[in-house]
Amino acid sequence: MNKQTPLTIIDWLDNPADRATWLRNIPGGRMHKAAAPNFIKLAKAMKAAGAGTLLVNSSFRAYSTQVFIHRNQVARLGLVAGEALAARPGYSEHQTGLAVDVSAAGQGCVIQICFANTKAGKWLAANAWQYGFIIRYPKGQTDYTGYQFEPWHLRYVGVQIAAEMKNLRVAVYERYLRLPAAPTY
Ligand code: DAL
Ligand code: ZN
Repeated sequence: MNKQTPLTIIDWLDNPADRATWLRNIPGGRMHKAAAPNFIKLAKAMKAAGAGTLLVNSSFRAYSTQVFIHRNQVARLGLVAGEALAARPGYSEHQTGLAVDVSAAGQGCVIQICFANTKAGKWLAANAWQYGFIIRYPKGQTDYTGYQFEPWHLRYVGVQIAAEMKNLRVAVYERYLRLPAAPTY
């Protein structure tokens, strides 16, 4: 989803009582059951490669959590910069449980662009696809995605799509899906 394609009513009719059926625990949060086991594999592989210990800063978010995050970022940065960082409620992939914001223990640059230059950030950019994750908001693609470069925000798309995007050298999910650009709401 993006600024032109919000969550459908079915997706965001998120009943807390139903969450146990589709969300699974990961260390430090919850993800969709399709993504959670792959995220755990990703973290194990990163550690085994010597690239660091993956930490979860934010994973599944309830609608009410997204209201809070969006409001805070807009208050802190203003509407344009705030909305380049935080989706409006009903438009965040975090609400689907398929997105996760990560950092690495002791490597700094937590939720900052410089995370891309850390050992973990480089390893993730090169290897996350093997576990079905993409860097959803790549550098210099704000006109397409509607968001600033977020090297910490991983989106689960499945191994098949992530591998195909890599092979085709298509970094932007909108381009892969042949969706129009979504710079604004
Ligand atoms: N940071 C991403 C764009 C979100 O709020 O979903
Ligand atoms: Zn995120």
